[in-house]
Amino acid sequence: MPQFKDNELTAAVIQSFEETPDPRVKFLLQELVKSLHDFVRKTDLSFDEWGYAIDFLTRTGQKCTPTRQEFILLSDVLGVSMLVDAVNHRQRDGATETTVLGPFYVGEHKTMPHGADISADLSGDRMFVQSRVTDLAGKPLAGVPVDVWHADDDGFYDSQRPSYETLGPSSRARFVTDADGRFFFRTILPCSYPIPTDGPVGEMILQTRRHPMRPAHVHFLVNAPGYEPLITHVFIEGDKYLDTDVVFGVKDDLISRIEKRSDPVMPDGKPASGPWHLMAYDFRMKPGAGTAPKPLMAATEAA
Ligand code: BEZ
Ligand code: FE
Repeated sequence: MPQFKDNELTAAVIQSFEETPDPRVKFLLQELVKSLHDFVRKTDLSFDEWGYAIDFLTRTGQKCTPTRQEFILLSDVLGVSMLVDAVNHRQRDGATETTVLGPFYVGEHKTMPHGADISADLSGDRMFVQSRVTDLAGKPLAGVPVDVWHADDDGFYDSQRPSYETLGPSSRARFVTDADGRFFFRTILPCSYPIPTDGPVGEMILQTRRHPMRPAHVHFLVNAPGYEPLITHVFIEGDKYLDTDVVFGVKDDLISRIEKRSDPVMPDGKPASGPWHLMAYDFRMKPGAGTAPKPLMAATEAA
């Protein structure tokens, strides 16, 4: 039975993966071992700390359900999700910036007609969103499905409410761009909101004196054939959490000035019931391939 000094142990574990048939899997596992061993060596990790980490990860797994992914939340608050986003989108070539998908893309987006009010029953300041999808040269892209979703005025997504089962989706929809690449809809002005804090990830955030808030935003998933799927948000300028987003998802280009309007009609010529806000933001798509992410529930079912 060989006895290893700690650096020999690392080499032995790396060597143990040498016969892995898939070269990428082999590379990932060997690099993971290197990084994990370095962490243990650098920190002189104690047995208690190791035990705490095992328990934390166990609780993280136990908190997952078909509609809740606590591991993705962990990746988000540790900045790993945004780092994966960054290394996969190094050259934007003028295309719209990307950010995290987040855990509330549940994939029940029904196609709605342009101008529809996707938050009809919700209280909040009214907002008109108008947008255009183009290629990098500004050529409009027609017939492109765009999924949109955002939190309500209390900071909750529809899927976080028990009533979701019976009432169905709210503040989420799919629009398909017209011949000029445009789509538009009505909704409410979203507000900043906390990530879920009733699980181990939220507990970690609170115990480490971080705040759990995300700045107000609307999510967009633009999926044009022949172009990289665009997963992004548009953030509301002036939000107090823009510089300290708990998941590090803000990029300057994604911050939009929301104009306050009092015109009696909205841009589609239909009457406004009072003062309203205008969000105008266009999306530029990068040529390429790729598959749009599966919503959480579908991903779990497929597994
Ligand atoms: C969200 O924007 O919906 C979100 C993203 C990452 C973690 C939690 C929530
Ligand atoms: Fe969100």
